[in-house]
Amino acid sequence: MNVLGINSVFHESSAALVVDGKVVAACEEERFNRVKHAKQSRIDNPHELPEQAIRFCLDDAALKASDIDRVAYSFDPQLRRAQYRPEWWPDGRMEAQFLGCLDEVGGAIDKILGRKSGRALKFVPHHLAHAASAFYPSGFDAAAILIIDGIGEAACSTLARGEGARIEIIETFSYPHSLGFVWENASIHLGFSPYDAAKVMGLAAYGDPDVYRRQLASIIQLSEDGYQVDLAALGFPSYEPKGFELLLGPKRKPEEEILPQHMHFAAALQDATNAAVLALLRRLERAAGLKRLCVAGGVALNCVTNELIRRNGAFADIFIPSAPHDAGTALGAALAVHCAEAGQRPPPSGATPYLGPQFDEREVVAAVKAAGLTPRRSKNAARDAADMVADGNIVGWFQGRMEFGPRALGNRSLIADPRRPDTRAILNGRVKHREDFRPFAPSVLAERADEWFEIGPHLASHEYMLFACPAKAGRRERIPAVIHQDGTARVQLVQRTANPRFHELISCFYQRTGVPLVLNTSFNDSEPIVCTPAHAIATFRSTGIDALFMGNIYLTSET
Ligand SMILES: [Fe+2]
Repeated sequence: MNVLGINSVFHESSAALVVDGKVVAACEEERFNRVKHAKQSRIDNPHELPEQAIRFCLDDAALKASDIDRVAYSFDPQLRRAQYRPEWWPDGRMEAQFLGCLDEVGGAIDKILGRKSGRALKFVPHHLAHAASAFYPSGFDAAAILIIDGIGEAACSTLARGEGARIEIIETFSYPHSLGFVWENASIHLGFSPYDAAKVMGLAAYGDPDVYRRQLASIIQLSEDGYQVDLAALGFPSYEPKGFELLLGPKRKPEEEILPQHMHFAAALQDATNAAVLALLRRLERAAGLKRLCVAGGVALNCVTNELIRRNGAFADIFIPSAPHDAGTALGAALAVHCAEAGQRPPPSGATPYLGPQFDEREVVAAVKAAGLTPRRSKNAARDAADMVADGNIVGWFQGRMEFGPRALGNRSLIADPRRPDTRAILNGRVKHREDFRPFAPSVLAERADEWFEIGPHLASHEYMLFACPAKAGRRERIPAVIHQDGTARVQLVQRTANPRFHELISCFYQRTGVPLVLNTSFNDSEPIVCTPAHAIATFRSTGIDALFMGNIYLTSET
């Protein structure tokens, strides 16, 4: 059975293909249309589908539209209709418009596929899709499941349990009590975009959480039953978060200086979020009575909270997918439909983030020549790249299938020397143009990682850069470019089996320097991560990247 999964209801539009229960392809539309997050989250565009990602999935598996048995869409309009409350919008016509666009989803799918989907189209509840994206690939026979995001149909946080092929929702915390929206609003108030929760998280390490602890505790209120959000503080339903203004004064303008109060606020928000998530986990642990945990939803990209969940110790094993945010719901919806239709769960095939487009050497060489450049061939790309990094160069490392999810994990990465104190400033000045306070992450040989970081038991999700691990004393000063203000690093463990060429690169760097890790940041400059060789070459030429390796073909800035 071939199931095409689609996410487009809010943002992070994406498609995934599940063939007989195995995930064979998945990709975010932003990598094709070159618009960050693919599209804005608006009430008038849930039917704006990830057409290029859908076509990629079909082409990749050499399937025709007529081969698709089911289409799974990661939002359920009927559930929305049943759970919607009039007070959610200032004007009821907004909901009518949203539902009207959802009614057009089927027609939009038919147009792309060139056939009628009819009953083959299945609407999967949004949090069920998130849950499936974590539980089925986890390989756990049974697990407690925690979902936290902005909003699904109504649910903002969901406690669930998975067993075999079945996922059962235990409890939901409904809109407007949304931790995801608190972070979006906080991000906007601090002068960033709604998508910049990662910046707020980075900023938090510079602040003192005690300064605004009491105030944040009144915005995210903990109770025996979990948590509640102070709706007045959020400005609900006008979407003007007056609570933050009372605390911090007017919204910070992007060009304005970041003040200590902004950092203290971010720190208190991180602490309050941690406390709320731990309260949910205690509740989930009691209700589910299981020893393994799956986590998904946009809030699962918070690597500080994830580390706290891990350290909490209530669960023996934890799985968070490489795309825990909305993009992952395309994959989850497809898996949920497969399991519902097949009545059983497919045998575990191992989760991997490497599910996107790949390009062979012929295509790489053609792209280089089309750019008017001369391709050079390396006999040992991993060693040559590692030497260049050790000599202080910024190296583009492009190979194999693109990652599914927001982190570059060694296939669409920029690599730099973690030992140099000035690496961060050089990268920001020449390529990334990010704020100075944001940390860069290390990719570490899995077999050496415990010598450098407090990892704890290695989890599969440690390969996805999802946990902020403390660096060991005596090691921090050797790798200043990847250590955050609080002494942690968002580590990616690199296993030889999962990514042999990237492992080889880091091994070569280790042999030369005695340091078993490199700085790894996504291959982009203020745009979606590069997808094709042409994107990589364009970014290489327009920025200060010193060398670009695409498989065994390479370019240097002198050529
Ligand atoms: Fe979501």
